Amino acid sequence: MCGIVGYIGKSPAPPILISGLRRLEYRGYDSAGLAIIENDGIVVTKSPGKVASLHDKARSEWPEERFDTASAGIAHTRWATHGPPTESNAHPHLDENGGIALVHNGIIENYRSLRARLEGKGHHFLSETDTEVLSHLIGENYKENLFQAVCDALHQVEGTFGIAVISAKEPGKIITARRGSPIVIGVGDGETIVASDASAIISHTRQVIYLEDNDIAIVTANGVEIRDLDQVPVTRDVAELGFDAEAAEKGGYEHFMLKEIHEQPEALANAIRGRLDFNLGSSVLSGMGTSARDLSEIQRVVMLGCGTSLHAGLVGEYAFEDLANIHAEVEQAAEFRYRNPIIGRSDLVVAISQSGETADTLAAVREANQKGAFVMGLCNVVGSTIARETGRGIYLHAGPEISVASTKAFTCQVAVMLMMALKLGRGRRFSLEDGIKLAREIESIPELVQKVIDQSDAIAEVAKRYAQNEHAFFIGRGYMYPVALEGALKLKEISYIHAEGYHAAELKHGPIALLEEGTPIVALANDIPGKDKTLGNIEECRARGARILGVITEGDKEAAEFMDDVIEVPACHPLVATVPTAVALQLLSYHIAQARGCEIDQPRNLAKSVTVE
Ligand code: AGP
Repeated sequence: MCGIVGYIGKSPAPPILISGLRRLEYRGYDSAGLAIIENDGIVVTKSPGKVASLHDKARSEWPEERFDTASAGIAHTRWATHGPPTESNAHPHLDENGGIALVHNGIIENYRSLRARLEGKGHHFLSETDTEVLSHLIGENYKENLFQAVCDALHQVEGTFGIAVISAKEPGKIITARRGSPIVIGVGDGETIVASDASAIISHTRQVIYLEDNDIAIVTANGVEIRDLDQVPVTRDVAELGFDAEAAEKGGYEHFMLKEIHEQPEALANAIRGRLDFNLGSSVLSGMGTSARDLSEIQRVVMLGCGTSLHAGLVGEYAFEDLANIHAEVEQAAEFRYRNPIIGRSDLVVAISQSGETADTLAAVREANQKGAFVMGLCNVVGSTIARETGRGIYLHAGPEISVASTKAFTCQVAVMLMMALKLGRGRRFSLEDGIKLAREIESIPELVQKVIDQSDAIAEVAKRYAQNEHAFFIGRGYMYPVALEGALKLKEISYIHAEGYHAAELKHGPIALLEEGTPIVALANDIPGKDKTLGNIEECRARGARILGVITEGDKEAAEFMDDVIEVPACHPLVATVPTAVALQLLSYHIAQARGCEIDQPRNLAKSVTVE
């Protein structure tokens, strides 16, 4: 949700903290702040708005040399949960005496009772946040040993946290700890960096340590000492980051979203590479960590996820049923964790999450593990919590996805689930010939997507004709129904147009009442099973004056007749067609948001990974 950074080492901390925050800004961007240790005291600067305003404020308020001398500090970019995005609610928060500063990602659930107890002891709070209670609690427990004070305070806390803490009395260290929110520590040469994710670390070192839940670490310029909250020493591996700093840059594109849309042919090729076996007509997904025999005992596939990952699961549901003839279900993760689901040993539970940190999906994984299911992850971020907790799974290899609006992760999630369905299908009803044919279709996905990306300018022209509308409907049937939902989500997220995705047959059961002259309908009328019915539904909409933008199969003159505007996608296997069609809708949403002058990479009120309930 929020992004936190800590630095201690030989270089000036402020510039490193600010550039680290910029890299994490996609996690939350409604206010920011930093704190450094200087002359036995702590200097804090905070500002509502983007990291850029914090930078300008510090530059205007701080003496020049402070930027070049301070060697330790912590910083934060916020996604507000408790208290509006104001200067006083921004992090870092200080303790009662102002000698201890804290930045926090997560939610302190019992903060009200802790606050009341501390107020009873004479503490004064300056903000409405849950976090400030923790800085005061640490101060309350402080007896010249910051590590001990943080441990004592965290033992009284309920909820989630990823924190970094400094004390003016102990300038040579940063204390960091996690429960539920991610913390990565970058181990450099004479410097150490703490961050919510590796994108703030990659330009300093590729050697990282991922903290586990209830780990706490003493971080100095020359090393890291890790213990659990009962202060028992624990060992964590040092991992090597698999991407470079450039991957976390815009690469000449105006927005990360446009860059990531254009990266899809390569990302999809990476997701598919080495995973198709044309001799066996199957796929090789060693990360599933199971034999064909074990797979044959799987009776049901249950996919868990939120947002775009949930929509990818919905495409997966069709793929597992139609390709592998296996019962498949998709669960909204937040509902699954509280619903007491009927899950057992013969269920393959797939936790779909780009970030691998989404709190609801993580909790659903723990619930499925509780119930003895065969649980695996489908994640993009290497070393993420869901990836480590499931202990088996498939990485997308899509590369860092920075834009809040997920694009390449979605298409790679679908491509991987098609390969999973192929593998399960070959173990059930798929012949060698069928398998090879489908493997060839999957292998062609990057090329199909490139053909859609090549139409970006033409799609931009169409987009201009829909940019002034404040409402829109996306409709589709069969495999295209989840793609309609995803298209609507993309448009909502980045253009703030109230877009709804519906099964094409569902409109006449109510939503059609909203149609009037010119209401935009984006109709997915690809030449796949159900097309004729979809064309019928389009007629019903036209009869109410709607304006139809049709996504159709290349050269389908019959379907084109029904549309006011068209976007053509290449002909291919109906299930595979979900991928290029989704890319067409990503470009449509991007160009509509561009035409409306929206803040595309950091849409209001959103954050890239949702680490709170
Ligand atoms: C998608 O564009 C959104 N950013 C959001 O719906 C996202 O898909 C959802 O929060 C799930 O994230 P995850 O895949 O990282 O778990």
